[in-house]
Amino acid sequence: MKSGFRWEATIIEDQFILKTKVYSNRQSLQYLKQIKGFRAFIVSDSIMESLGYLQQVVDYLSEAGISSTIFTGVRPDPDVALIADGLKLYRESGADVLVAIGGGSAIDSAKGILYFSWKFGSAEDEEIKKPLFIAIPSTSGTGSEVTDFSVITSVGEKVVVIDELIAPDIAILDSTCIQHVPQRVIADTGIDVLVHAIEAYVSTKATDFTDALAEKAIKLIFENLETLYKDPKNDDARDRVLNASCLAGMAFTNTGLGINHSLAHAIGGTFHLSHGRSNALLLNAVMEYNADLSGGACGSAAERYSKLAGVLQLPARTKREGAVNFMLAVKRLKKALGVEDHIRALGIDQAAFTNALEHMAETAALDRCTPTNPRQPSNDDLVQIFKKCF
Ligand SMILES: NC(=O)c1ccc[n+]([C@@H]2O[C@H](COP(=O)([O-])OP(=O)(O)OC[C@H]3O[C@@H](n4cnc5c(N)ncnc54)[C@H](O)[C@@H]3O)[C@@H](O)[C@H]2O)c1
Ligand SMILES: [Zn+2]
Repeated sequence: MKSGFRWEATIIEDQFILKTKVYSNRQSLQYLKQIKGFRAFIVSDSIMESLGYLQQVVDYLSEAGISSTIFTGVRPDPDVALIADGLKLYRESGADVLVAIGGGSAIDSAKGILYFSWKFGSAEDEEIKKPLFIAIPSTSGTGSEVTDFSVITSVGEKVVVIDELIAPDIAILDSTCIQHVPQRVIADTGIDVLVHAIEAYVSTKATDFTDALAEKAIKLIFENLETLYKDPKNDDARDRVLNASCLAGMAFTNTGLGINHSLAHAIGGTFHLSHGRSNALLLNAVMEYNADLSGGACGSAAERYSKLAGVLQLPARTKREGAVNFMLAVKRLKKALGVEDHIRALGIDQAAFTNALEHMAETAALDRCTPTNPRQPSNDDLVQIFKKCF
């Protein structure tokens, strides 16, 4: 999937795609009762099983006359071995409906299973047909329910697969599925949403269409994430953060992401940090790099950050003032969500970090999220960002 070259941002023509049909309210899980099909393959994890959501999905599908095969082998940050296990069961099941219920790890696992089943099945194999793919997020989140991205770990490195085949046909946003998310996961996944929206907004492929989605996602996050973190029983805040997650996903599936994600993939894969926390710890240093406010000049991203300050009604009389105020607002939000100031606060050994630096920077430079970053970094730039965050 990834070889030793930099991915180029290939822009054939301006296009904006939203393939996924979205159902969104607190009863929308029941939409499963109306699905047409014979057999479902459900990809999930043991937490979803123990919380009873999996049985609910099986019961609703059964009301639609659909029997289910269940795979609960998903672990955080799915790897190729997990995908291979799921793929074997999926093929044996003969399913015509593929359902993923869980966080980004479950949805990305289902995408991995679909991708490898499709791409590496024999052309003569009559059994391989594209299933109806339904994604039900239980975190808010990765936005994976509407994106054509999947992140799969291979030989200790996170590899981004991008293919329109794996964008779900249907997303069910039912916030009752996220009501038991632990507080730390609310913070991590919520900041991930913010990073998706910010990276989409400053991406080299941003358009008026994606800007509208990203701006709304950022507004919803600033208005609701801290409330949800402090009061996880707040139904309205939970609905809004779930919507923000999906909106940000719709934006970045069209724009790509940036080096915040490239660096987060590299450090998350190396030190097994959660995806959202990795992104959160890097966010301010990456924005400072992109804004490039040193020496009186402003990078192009500074203007975009300044526009986001305007969206949040922060003072933005000049590009610099707006960019600085937006970055400060992000810092304040991270603090309110209990995000550590530095990577070392997570207990990562300094010598191990220093040893891994060059390799992590190389991996980040080759990541598929790097070409759409507003400022193209050298490997040394990436090393310096890592050092600043440590
Ligand atoms: N495909 C994409 O577009 C995309 C975008 C961003 C991130 N990702 C990938 O997604 C993964 C991260 O996903 P995530 O942040 O959603 O975390 P996750 O899916 O790894 O879940 C984190 C933890 O929360 C638990 N959990 C999930 N839902 C819960 C619920 N409702 N109640 C209680 N516990 C629950 C999980 O069991 C797990 O232990 C990473 O591998 C990341 O690289 C993918
Ligand atoms: Zn992310």
